Amino acid sequence: MFHTAVLALLPLMPWPAQITVGQAVVPITNQFSISMQGVGASDDRVRAAVVRTFSRLSRQTGVPMFPTVVKSGGTLEIVVESRDHKGPQRLGDDERYSLEVRDGRVRLSADAPLGVLRGLETFLQSVTQNTSGMPGFSVPEFTVHDGPRYPWRGLSLDVSRHFVPTDDVKRTLDGMAAVKLNVFHWHLSDDQGFRVESKRFPRLQAYGSDGLFYTQAEIRDVVAYARARGIRVVPEFDMPGHAASWTPGYPNLATTSGPHEILRGFGITEAVLDPTKESTYRFIDGLVGEMSKLFPDEFFHIGGDEVNPKQWNQSGKIQAFMRKHHLANSEGLQAYFNGRLLKILTKHGKQMEGWDEVLNPDLPKSVVIQSWRGQESLWQAAAEGYRTLLSAGYYLDLMQPASQHYAIDPLVLPPARAERLQKQNKPIPPPPTPATERNILGGEAAMWEELATAENLDSRLWPRLAAIAERFWSPQSVTDVHSMYERLAMTNGWLEWLGLTQRSNLELMRQRLAGGERSPALDAFASALEPVKGYGRHAGRYLTSTPLNRLVDAIPPESDAARAFNNDVDAFVASDRSQPAKLIEKLSFWQAQTEAVLPLLQSRSLLNDAAPAAQTLLNVCRYGQMILRHETVDSAAASAALTQAETSESDLLVAIAPGIRRLIEAPAVSASNRQ
Ligand code: ACM
Repeated sequence: MFHTAVLALLPLMPWPAQITVGQAVVPITNQFSISMQGVGASDDRVRAAVVRTFSRLSRQTGVPMFPTVVKSGGTLEIVVESRDHKGPQRLGDDERYSLEVRDGRVRLSADAPLGVLRGLETFLQSVTQNTSGMPGFSVPEFTVHDGPRYPWRGLSLDVSRHFVPTDDVKRTLDGMAAVKLNVFHWHLSDDQGFRVESKRFPRLQAYGSDGLFYTQAEIRDVVAYARARGIRVVPEFDMPGHAASWTPGYPNLATTSGPHEILRGFGITEAVLDPTKESTYRFIDGLVGEMSKLFPDEFFHIGGDEVNPKQWNQSGKIQAFMRKHHLANSEGLQAYFNGRLLKILTKHGKQMEGWDEVLNPDLPKSVVIQSWRGQESLWQAAAEGYRTLLSAGYYLDLMQPASQHYAIDPLVLPPARAERLQKQNKPIPPPPTPATERNILGGEAAMWEELATAENLDSRLWPRLAAIAERFWSPQSVTDVHSMYERLAMTNGWLEWLGLTQRSNLELMRQRLAGGERSPALDAFASALEPVKGYGRHAGRYLTSTPLNRLVDAIPPESDAARAFNNDVDAFVASDRSQPAKLIEKLSFWQAQTEAVLPLLQSRSLLNDAAPAAQTLLNVCRYGQMILRHETVDSAAASAALTQAETSESDLLVAIAPGIRRLIEAPAVSASNRQ
């Protein structure tokens, strides 16, 4: 029998706007059927989603099912009030739905087809294995009235730094739809690669992609796949910076005479398009015209970030152009460029979007501003009347824990950021007013691909992206981190029923590193580690040709085992410290497994560079156990070991070090253990 305790365990993510949970359950059997009513029932997206629901449900439960659609009285009764509008999905399309599970039936109702798609995901998430009584699966009785907090909930995926083939993109779209994200922002060009076939300018992909690009047929296929799942596709062609892949094929676009080559490393280049030539705008007009037909969404992203003005500043011709047009500086020149772009986009029926560097007093208010630099520019743009999106704080490539992204809210200045502004004597910006708040459309997670490939992409996205999706969909008051992690763990499991590979591919990668056989010792050692955070790994050593096949590439961004250990330490330190056994047991396990894996680390060349991290982990485990056993500890040596553990070695961090540091530094222990 379910009772209110089940509420916390319902693996719904994002959490619905309103939910009440009843007492009984509706079993899922091989008699399961779906009925559809209302004028929207014939909608192509609804019908396709219904077919997918049968196969997913069957896969998830093991119950054989024919896709039985009946006129009325199905186990799942879908009522859709209206048909879809013509043309592509639009920003703000109605996504609300109600889901009522009662009296042996599930009733899903929505005003529009998109609401049905969202509601079906909630239904599928709520199907859980029975814990007692009858075997099999059921849906708990509950009533959900749900709709999104924000209309724009996206993922920006960089396919330039490392190409991501269409199957991997589609798998990502499956996951996005499952957590109700609705915008796939496709970062299609950057310094390292131009990834779309242009028929009009074929030297773009011929000279700018190393042969790794999407054909136009593939693009259409992905756009249709996304649409079927209620996801808009917004293309980004980053310019005038981040465009070094355009000029090997079309050197005339460049500010300098060359040589022009796609970038093999990472970071900000000096290469920048020449915004003073009419031929540049004719080219962009041609490209935007072609791409506008390929990408039916009303929005078109022009990038605009991180323009290095050096080449502009060094060009006499460009300086003369700026004087002639009364452009005071490079920002003014970029604003001129953006103004020209806006005209081109408008001509092709597109609304312009850009990263927050495009903000300029001359920029028309119709442009959507995507803030990657912080709430300040988000709020400033919103206050000035621009529609805005937040991406700062949602960069998945920086390997931060889910909790850190989850804490970021478009309407709240993160405390660390406020502190930094204060230190720099910069003003703390005023938060949006109810009127300007409406200009905040939502946000996008961003996955930059300098240090990820299609092989480990899923592990860089999932499950953390689900926590960010909840931030964009659920009411602002949904902030309980404990509940988030509980549901995230379950989400992590069922995402794999969709075919996502966030765990399986990392296991495979570690198995390869171990020589072809799975090594439990390597897995245990790896479970105490995390990749270095932030931009610590980006600097210098990596090229696009560097294989991303080391241990750091084969572990998740966040270690669940280390987080659990660190939480256990917190509970231990906060209590009377009378139960050290569990902590000692974990540390001695890690110690034994790490000792066992040392020969492997030393003998396999691809694992050699992880050996120092193993030594550091061993030290940390030993000090931790000594403290817990009340043995005398040389606190200077222990502190040095911890500092080492918190410093990256081969890009690896010992993720249990913060817990051990708290054991050492918490007053009661230090009083009895300090020499
Ligand atoms: C960005 O991270 N340069 C948008």
